[in-house]
Amino acid sequence: MALTRRDVLKWALEASALSAAGTPFRAFGAEAGGDRTADIPYGAAVYLPDLQTDARLGAAISRHCTRVTPVTELKWSSLRPTSGTFDFAPGDAIVGFADGHGMDVHGHTLVWHASLPDWVESITDAGEAERLMREHVATVMARYKKSVRSWDVVNEPIPDAPDGVTDRRDGYWSERLGPRHVRLAFEVAHAVDPAAMLVLNEYDVEFAVERSPAKRAAFRNLVEELLDQGAPVHAIGLQGHLRGGWPIAIDELADFVVDMRRLGLQILVTELDVQDQDLVSPADERDAVIAGQVFDFLSAVSAAGPPHSITTWGISDQYSWVRWAFPRSDGTRNRPLPLDWDFQRKPFMDVIDHFRTLRI
Ligand code: XIL
Repeated sequence: MALTRRDVLKWALEASALSAAGTPFRAFGAEAGGDRTADIPYGAAVYLPDLQTDARLGAAISRHCTRVTPVTELKWSSLRPTSGTFDFAPGDAIVGFADGHGMDVHGHTLVWHASLPDWVESITDAGEAERLMREHVATVMARYKKSVRSWDVVNEPIPDAPDGVTDRRDGYWSERLGPRHVRLAFEVAHAVDPAAMLVLNEYDVEFAVERSPAKRAAFRNLVEELLDQGAPVHAIGLQGHLRGGWPIAIDELADFVVDMRRLGLQILVTELDVQDQDLVSPADERDAVIAGQVFDFLSAVSAAGPPHSITTWGISDQYSWVRWAFPRSDGTRNRPLPLDWDFQRKPFMDVIDHFRTLRI
């Protein structure tokens, strides 16, 4: 039996921290009510080998999405097999798929501490590292200029345990170029493609627990510092790898988003999924908890109006990284995404539809 939106929102509300806390909605997401309907682009990340082996995946993406993010094909590990060479074939294939279906492509990612080939890691000289970064950003952005209109310029700049002193992640680029590498990357990217939307992307900024409040504060500091320095940052990306059972800091995240919008930044949800390894079975109860958590997150993200776009990290549970990165100990399948293993809709997709089409 198909679920109605009313069913889903009831489920989501029952499962959400908002209703548990008895907090009245103040977020745009629940109030709705203007004359216009938001039409927020929805995208999915996709990995080329999956797209090539299962026709249902491309069909589902072209049916539900207007955006695509390549999972690995625009990372250094894929693009830079050896010093001095570029392999554009996998990136071209995903961009070609998107172009063929009239979809936008979000570029992921130009500067990141991870996913670097060994030959890059072995370069220790600052001058050489800077030359490499400039060459990479210029070459890759220029190639995909027509189709890739937004880029995660710097991914995950905040460490997992920021303490106010060390609130920048150590890693390849920090070690070679120091903290200035973040601003440098944005300046180089802007010079290559002045019309591209340049995004600073981060994870774990949405929870009320664990490292999240400190990450949120450090992320805010970095954004403000970059803007004070005149860096061409246009948007923040909230990855949204939600952890099943970690409560969303709804008010704090809403305040954060409102402040970011006041600074003139757009908000992108870039990698939404729910790591459900510690959540209950059976599947329908788990799906309700997941939908509730996504509902809380998107309510807060929408606090100052619709986000620029919402992208999930995959679309079907069958092709999610969660199934191998965070498997369940009870042996049942993970259910982190809007469509299940067999490409059937779950309440997660209804929640996305709700936020895509709110009256504003
Ligand atoms: C992950 C991919 O899903 C995996 O297939 C890959 O092995 C490692 O990277 N944050 C990011 C993404 O910004 O690039 C990561 O993607 C997931 C976490």
